[in-house]
Amino acid sequence: MLRRVNFYSICIAFGLSVLLILAGSRYTDNTYYRPSPESRRIIEINIPQQIPTNPYDGLPNIDNILEKTRLKIKLELQNYNFTGSGVEKLEDLIIESGGQPIRSIIISTWRSGTTFLGEVLNSVPGNYYHYEPLLNYEIIQIRGAPHADRALNMITKMLKCDYDGMEDYFEYGKGHLHQFSHNTRLWDHCKYKKELCFDADFTSKFCRLFPFQSMKVVRVRLRLMKQLLENKELNIKVVLLIRDPRGVMQSRQHRNFCQPSPDCWKPELLCADMISDYVAAGRLLQTYPDRLIVQRYEELALDPNNTTPRLLKFLGINPTTSVEEFLVSHTNVEVSGVSSTFRVSREVPFKWRNVLDYNYVEEIQMACKEALNLWGYKLVQNATHMTSKDFYPLDNYTLTQ
Ligand SMILES: *[C@@H]1O[C@H](CO)[C@@H](O)[C@H](O)[C@H]1NC(C)=O
Ligand SMILES: *[C@@H]1O[C@H](CO)[C@@H](O)[C@H](O)[C@H]1NC(C)=O
Ligand SMILES: *[C@@H]1O[C@H](CO)[C@@H](O)[C@H](O)[C@H]1NC(C)=O
Repeated sequence: MLRRVNFYSICIAFGLSVLLILAGSRYTDNTYYRPSPESRRIIEINIPQQIPTNPYDGLPNIDNILEKTRLKIKLELQNYNFTGSGVEKLEDLIIESGGQPIRSIIISTWRSGTTFLGEVLNSVPGNYYHYEPLLNYEIIQIRGAPHADRALNMITKMLKCDYDGMEDYFEYGKGHLHQFSHNTRLWDHCKYKKELCFDADFTSKFCRLFPFQSMKVVRVRLRLMKQLLENKELNIKVVLLIRDPRGVMQSRQHRNFCQPSPDCWKPELLCADMISDYVAAGRLLQTYPDRLIVQRYEELALDPNNTTPRLLKFLGINPTTSVEEFLVSHTNVEVSGVSSTFRVSREVPFKWRNVLDYNYVEEIQMACKEALNLWGYKLVQNATHMTSKDFYPLDNYTLTQ
């Protein structure tokens, strides 16, 4: 039934646009519009024509993709309660219709659970996932000059769906398609025609259709988010995702992207950033208590069913069945021994205890004593203690404001 209604509305919309184009060309070609029998015949022929939907059919029809996406988003969110998002209706969240989307950004560092949380947010219908906008900076942390201004400018532009002048971003993406493929709703079209992903005009228009806009960034420290929070137009919410540095370092051990870059393999740099993030979180929470939330990865992984709805509520997103389904299929209580990149289980957060050499843990703890203390992670006393059942790494922590 719905399909038929949609089909007819597409036909009508298509017919109307043909009418408009014809009327428009009449007005420009001649000084006045004279309806003629021919034009009426053209219209009649055009209306019943099926719009090509096969993506392999020659050139992609941009207008057709945009219109199909509009209808899809509307359909997927027809039962969504917009009150929880602080608006009355879908159009209020769509840039194209003059609205402002619900924007969120996850700030973290490599191997801290951003992939999982990013996928959770992307399971919300109508979400446009900006993924990692700064991949082309390679493996560095941005803490200030010389990169901060350009990086923040780029993040801001993307969150506004303005891809103009982002040649570096597109150029890098041509050789690194994962920059786009995590944005599943965009990738649905690019996978057939890669050029669409490199097209600033198309991506800008496409992005402007989506009521939820999420992003994750592992290369910028929280301190710099002040600039984005100050931008009233963006109306952004920030999630700072923190993970035990012993777990982070264990997870980075087998990643060959890490080794050449001190920002990635030196625990003292990781932990200096964690201290900086702690200070920044305290300060920013004073000014923006309802725009910043801090989440420890361990608590997300141990209890995703309770943590996720709390995060979504903070962000102004009502939990949908698609999120529930995602959690069921990507979390497990039982020890299965298999875990993909974005599957979390109770085993993952504390795996370092059984995998890392005690001497290395001691080395990390020496470099990270303060960061561990601030973020509520308990120190291991000796090798037996590390693997003992009595040792539970999590403690409480408070953010001093
Ligand atoms: C929508 O959510 C608001 C609170 O966010 C609630 O008060 C209201 O009853 C909900 N409406 C429906 C139809 O569920
Ligand atoms: C979350 O809830 C689902 C469904 O109720 C359940 O299958 C799953 O095991 C739960 N996950 C965890 C980690 O408790
Ligand atoms: C290891 O540390 C635990 C907890 O502090 C302590 O009870 C135990 O005696 C220590 N073992 C050794 C061999 O030092």
